[in-house]
Amino acid sequence: MPHADAAYVPSGLSKQQFWQHIYEQLAALLEGQRSWVTNLANASSLIYSSLLAYTPHFGDGERAVNWCGFYVDSPLFPTPRYVQVDPGQQPQPTARKLLLAPFCGKPACQLINVTPGKARGVCADAFLQAQTKLVPDVEAYPGHIACDGQTKSEIVCPLILRRQGENNVVVGVLDLDCLAPGGFDEHDVKGLNRIADLVVNACDW
Ligand code: SME
Repeated sequence: MPHADAAYVPSGLSKQQFWQHIYEQLAALLEGQRSWVTNLANASSLIYSSLLAYTPHFGDGERAVNWCGFYVDSPLFPTPRYVQVDPGQQPQPTARKLLLAPFCGKPACQLINVTPGKARGVCADAFLQAQTKLVPDVEAYPGHIACDGQTKSEIVCPLILRRQGENNVVVGVLDLDCLAPGGFDEHDVKGLNRIADLVVNACDW
């Protein structure tokens, strides 16, 4: 099957069937690949394209999903190979941040501060609290970061890496934005949490 066909969505699916369909398509697409960059790129494309093809809910003009992507904890990104050191300078403590990772949609903010006490926004809260955030009205959410003024609602799932015999680690978040208020519901929370688990377990971090 050509890779692009993974985003084909049959008509007449209920929301539960729709999320199960995406889960199965994504599982097949990620098989045999462990790079988080590659897998997050294909995951954001598959989810975004499938949502836009799911016409009664997300594909219709003013109800459309307008952004789908990932933010990942900054230490997981490659570090500069050569660091210029000023001999007279003390090293400065750096802020903890999430960096923009693969996504589909318009350009978005590159980094999100997740330093406890300084963090703000939906992604930072989902990451620090390891909890999915369903936001029916972004303007009513304290500290919401507006990357696109057209976004009206949002859902953010933490990417939780569960390790046997060790503490869980949150490696990033999966973020979806919608042009309509109340664009996402509890079915989407459930469906997307399963997708987030699938993606985390398909990658080496
Ligand atoms: N709204 C998010 C920022 C990311 S963008 O929506 C893509 C937040 O409040 O954290």
